[in-house]
Amino acid sequence: MRHLTRTMALAALTALAAPAHADGTVEVLHWWTSGGEAKAVGELKSAFDAQGGTWVDSPIAGGGGDAAMTALRARVVAGNPPTAVQLKGPGIQEWANEGALRDVQDVADAEHWDDVLPPVLADIMKFDGKYVAAPVNIHRVDWLWASPEALATAGVEAMPTTWEEFNAAADKLMAAGITPLAHGGQPWQDATVFEVVVLGIGGADFYRQALVDLDDAALRSDTMVAAFDQLRKLRGYVDPNFSGRDWNLATAMVMRGEAGFQIMGDWAKGEFLAAGMTPGEDFLCAPAPGQGYILNADSFTFFNVSGEENIKGQKVLASLIMSPEFQKTFNLAKGSIPARTDVALDDFDICAQRSHGDLLAARDAGTLVPSMAHEMAIPRSVRGEFLDLVTQFINSDMGSAEAAAQLADAVQRAM
Ligand code: GAL
Repeated sequence: MRHLTRTMALAALTALAAPAHADGTVEVLHWWTSGGEAKAVGELKSAFDAQGGTWVDSPIAGGGGDAAMTALRARVVAGNPPTAVQLKGPGIQEWANEGALRDVQDVADAEHWDDVLPPVLADIMKFDGKYVAAPVNIHRVDWLWASPEALATAGVEAMPTTWEEFNAAADKLMAAGITPLAHGGQPWQDATVFEVVVLGIGGADFYRQALVDLDDAALRSDTMVAAFDQLRKLRGYVDPNFSGRDWNLATAMVMRGEAGFQIMGDWAKGEFLAAGMTPGEDFLCAPAPGQGYILNADSFTFFNVSGEENIKGQKVLASLIMSPEFQKTFNLAKGSIPARTDVALDDFDICAQRSHGDLLAARDAGTLVPSMAHEMAIPRSVRGEFLDLVTQFINSDMGSAEAAAQLADAVQRAM
């Protein structure tokens, strides 16, 4: 009896002495390693730590997450999945279908996630009607970032609103000896620029037909050929050292005024902000030419792991990610806007306000489309065909008609 009491007292003492484990452990696999990204994920880590949890960081460098997804596959095959993984779009469904994910429906029920998430996002987070992922944000892909200094030097007076205006501005920058377009030659970056041009040239309905529904006629159409023509134009505005360059280094070229524009999602804004720059003053943001909004939402999934400590950690993380306070702090650093619809945007900058206004307008007008390049639209295998072809186009002198035909053939083979 005495012995038992002592054991119990010891257990109580041990529990007190180890508050760090009071709220679970998570190993988090993510690809947020650039300046702005690291700052944003640092917010999540600090919030988790502050709850008494233990955060094991597993960053896999590589913008767009392709390297992270390869690492994830290897971990799962080895029977050692991380507890939480940055994952999105159809990828969530693919992993859930394999039985790899644990749902967090109890957390979602208790916190009424259905009431605070846009349905379009909630659907992506669910498998078999249950939440298997928690969304952190809404990124917009179709942005144009610019250096006011470079534009002024070249005599460009306003942000372009059509591709003709963009090309004219780029010609002026070129004449002034400034690289018109900062770009990094990596497949996902090539595909990012490509989808922005497809939306800009073809409009939202065409985008959906070609990049979401994978309609053969749309892929082979004159509109697609015209999109490749504009992509070829853009290729001519890139400096010779673009191959393999990371996206944040391209952003840095705009920061320094070495380049006029960058076409990139608003994680680029996270870089400008991390460098202490102010939108509207030190850098400019405007939607890329065209009508619509390309949506890219980041989310975390929870893999099937054993151990109470880990399962607790998953629930705490899910709840934390969806808390209004966290959604605000995180997104102020990340460049995105909150996934929750009930977080006030008063403290957010003009680019975020614009993103939010345009998101609602696009939703109402039916011009809200999911990002192909950022894995919101189609299975990874088919996306891979787009990336290969677009990158091949950018790194060769392939004609536009040939590119559209080859793309359609590749997509057909992949389906
Ligand atoms: C996107 C992701 C963003 C950003 C970007 C560059 O796919 O959604 O959060 O990190 O890649 O790495």
